[in-house]
Amino acid sequence: MVTAVARRLAAQRKEIDAVLEPFLLSPETLREVKNKMRTELEYGLKRETQGSATVKMLPTYVCGTPDGTEKGKFLALDLGGTNFRVLLVKIRSGRRKSVRMYNKIFAIPLEIMQGTGEELFDHIVHCIADFLEYMGIKGARLPLGFTFSFPCKQGTLVGWTKGFKATDCEGEDVVDMLREAIKRRNEFDLDIVAVVNDTVGTMMTCGYEDPNCEIGLIAGTGSNVCYMEDMKNIEIVEGNEGKMCINTEWGGFGDNGCIDNIRTEYDKEVDEGSLNPGKQRYEKMTSGMYLGEIVRQILIDLTKRGLLFRGQISESLRKRGIFETKFLSQIESDRLALLQVRQILQQLGLDSTCEDSIIVKEVCGAVSRRAAQLCGAGLAAIVEKKRENRGVEHLQITVGVDGTLYKLHPQVLQETVKELAPWCDVTFMLSEDGSGKGAALITAVAKRLRNIDKYLYAMRLSDETLIDIMARFRREMKNGLSRDFNPTATVKMLPTFVRSIPDGSEKGDFIALDLGGSYFRILRVKVSHEKKQTVQMESEIYNTPEDIMHGSGTRLFDHVAECLGDFMEKQQIKDKKLPVGFTFSFPCRQSKLDEGVLITWTKRFKASGVEGADVVKLLNRAIKKRGDYDADIMAVVNDTVGTMMTCGFDDQRCEVGLIIGTGTNACYMEEMRHIDLVEGDEGRMCINTEWGAFGDDGSLEDIRTEFDREIDRGSLNPGKQLFEKMVSGLYMGELVRLILVKMAKEGLLFEGRITPELLTKGKFETKHVSAIEKSKEGLSKAKDILTRLGVEPSHEDCVAVQHVCTIVSFRSANLVAATLGAILCQLRDNKGVGRLRTTVGVDGSLYKMHPQYARRLHKTTRRLVPDSDVRFLLSESGSGKGAAMVTAVAYRVCAPRGDQPCPPFHAEGVCLAAGPGAAQKASGSPVGCSGESGISQCGDF
Ligand code: BG6
Ligand code: BG6
Ligand code: GLC
Ligand code: GLC
Repeated sequence: MVTAVARRLAAQRKEIDAVLEPFLLSPETLREVKNKMRTELEYGLKRETQGSATVKMLPTYVCGTPDGTEKGKFLALDLGGTNFRVLLVKIRSGRRKSVRMYNKIFAIPLEIMQGTGEELFDHIVHCIADFLEYMGIKGARLPLGFTFSFPCKQGTLVGWTKGFKATDCEGEDVVDMLREAIKRRNEFDLDIVAVVNDTVGTMMTCGYEDPNCEIGLIAGTGSNVCYMEDMKNIEIVEGNEGKMCINTEWGGFGDNGCIDNIRTEYDKEVDEGSLNPGKQRYEKMTSGMYLGEIVRQILIDLTKRGLLFRGQISESLRKRGIFETKFLSQIESDRLALLQVRQILQQLGLDSTCEDSIIVKEVCGAVSRRAAQLCGAGLAAIVEKKRENRGVEHLQITVGVDGTLYKLHPQVLQETVKELAPWCDVTFMLSEDGSGKGAALITAVAKRLRNIDKYLYAMRLSDETLIDIMARFRREMKNGLSRDFNPTATVKMLPTFVRSIPDGSEKGDFIALDLGGSYFRILRVKVSHEKKQTVQMESEIYNTPEDIMHGSGTRLFDHVAECLGDFMEKQQIKDKKLPVGFTFSFPCRQSKLDEGVLITWTKRFKASGVEGADVVKLLNRAIKKRGDYDADIMAVVNDTVGTMMTCGFDDQRCEVGLIIGTGTNACYMEEMRHIDLVEGDEGRMCINTEWGAFGDDGSLEDIRTEFDREIDRGSLNPGKQLFEKMVSGLYMGELVRLILVKMAKEGLLFEGRITPELLTKGKFETKHVSAIEKSKEGLSKAKDILTRLGVEPSHEDCVAVQHVCTIVSFRSANLVAATLGAILCQLRDNKGVGRLRTTVGVDGSLYKMHPQYARRLHKTTRRLVPDSDVRFLLSESGSGKGAAMVTAVAYRVCAPRGDQPCPPFHAEGVCLAAGPGAAQKASGSPVGCSGESGISQCGDF
């Protein structure tokens, strides 16, 4: 008898073990889950695979954790967990930093959760109204942060999860739905600032206490994780610097079947009976909403097998949802005696024996233990990723956690992470205050930045506007090239008489002068041809004091001649008459290579008596006056042209020269047939666009801001170079300063403090903008720079100033992308190709020194001109080298005539044979000279 009972019990035991066996996951299985999760995380981050990834990796646009300077009074909503809460959150910053919260819980009846969207949002607004009334704050238009614990992509609900299924919400903007419901009620108004996932809210709540908290985990009704990811890994978001919080939405892990090997029949049953069959498979194995259901399915099966409840499936056991998480945790608790378990089961309408209650306890334990282990495996994947991102062997990190389920088996989850990510020291921090507090902290920061965005709205140019600017510039180019419109055109499109990029045959010993950028440089450039062409350069930088830049032209050129004398002395070539190429970075009208009539000074120069004069003549005169050396100035070259030639030396495809430095400008190779001002239709010629003057006729007034107008008023050339003043390095720092002054005056920065330094023109330089926008040290640089300006910036001030810098420099890069885009379209159309392949040679301090400028420019350009493969080639050796290349060709043509000034070169009307285009169409005055056979143009390149 005893043996029979023992045998029966043993058989029962075996059967129960067999049923629960798939819930026992081996370390290998868990490792496999971790690895698969890791793969899915990567898929979700990559642009190509993101669309089909099951773990959606949604960017949240939250780019930092709290730092204690957040402050203000906020409303918070918290929807999607066990409870719906409305909260009032008061945050104090500084030494007495604190957060006070008042909240009220409201029920959301099932018929509203699964009714229409309008009903749901009306109900939410009804609860808000009740809360405002209750708190006596109905009249206050408070900023609101909305913890909305569902997957959202840029504010749009991707799809309901868990127990919600209200109609007409998926694909809709959450803020819009709430705003419309507020409008429908028409009783109060709210400023909805941020929508936050509960994982993010939790990470922020914990991050407020522990700055090392960079992961937020929810193990509650649903299951999910967010973490701070390096921007460079987030392909679908612009920018590479810093970090952004990613809401992984890992609940969808396995929706492609990749963890079907560990899903049991019970899991499948639960899935089929859910609101979203086939979806959120991992969540359905790990979260509170489903664990009770899995337990119920197992109990039904065991009952059917006669192993439980005397084989009787009661009405209660048939009821979906009877095992809420709270019962699960009670039943499982070691502290609960069997009798108490029986009482709970009794409450649930399940009449159990002592044996039954042991089995039920065991089932609950197996299901929730598996959930904790699976969650731990997923978390280990995230933690490992963080470790790799940081490039450290050992990672110390804090995970902020919330959710009713976490509290069930915290040790199991923690041990799993430890085992699967042994190199990571993970601290788990239970969020005491829910995610509403974190949402309010995010709202505080977002409100500040939003204020700035609103403030600088006019500086944020949409692609639509940029495309429009591109079209406007294209028209300007056309006008500048046309004989009829050129005299009145603002963009002068100056012919340069340079007809091709270097071909590798250049050689000789040259001097290059380089005047007009940040430095005045003199170079000696030796181009030799032993086996292959090599270039040797030596250079000196000379000061050009402001009183010389702004004095008389004679003094300026005397200074240039003096520096040249000094350079030749140092080089011991004073007795030689080396050919000189003159990079003169100002708009010059040329009718041949060795002539440049200054149209107008730009940037920092304003020497008298030079505008309208030929700078070659002025320099020659100054050299002659000295009489201690001689020089043969063979070419005047704009810096854009010099840059194109420098880059063309390395890349034959280079046909655009771009400068983004003190000033901004571009040149490109235009078809002769489009250049009305120069005779001839064959071949190409480099055009110096002088795009800095774009907008001087009012064509950019719609995008110019009050700050641009102020910059212009205080400049050396009011009303001129209006595009340049929105873009280039000479003005960018000052633009930012003017914005900061105004914001401070309006109390938006530095608590309204304004210092004499902040009010001083030029005190905030473009190099400061570059420093502040650096990814790592940017904020500490901002603090140093602002402190030197006498203001005592809070961290929030530094974040705000960094934001201002970003807006100003981004606008600059966007504007250049638009004008460059117009040139690229012109080149593409000229060539009659569908897709343009070209190289742009670039130089200039802003482009080179700003940490993000180049990348932004490249990205926007490629977006604006999608049918192009553009290579941006940084000019490593300045435009002096390019100027020497131009000089080399001019010299090659003239050299056979000895040391004499090249007669045909300087004479007029000699070389019509130089090929089409050597004479001017407009003036009719022929230029250039006939060259050696094979080099058909002279006086031109
Ligand atoms: C709370 C958050 O603290 O945790 C909720 O404020 C969140 O928004 C919840 O959804 C998760 O837990 P549960 O168990 O309520 O789903
Ligand atoms: C240099 C050129 O490389 O780039 C200069 O040689 C040019 O002539 C300059 O003006 C542009 O940059 P910046 O920043 O010095 O104005
Ligand atoms: C669900 C939601 C997710 C949320 C989680 C925890 O998975 O899709 O957004 O974070 O539940 O509440
Ligand atoms: C100014 C000059 C232009 C030059 C540019 C870059 O715009 O007018 O000639 O190329 O600055 O230095």
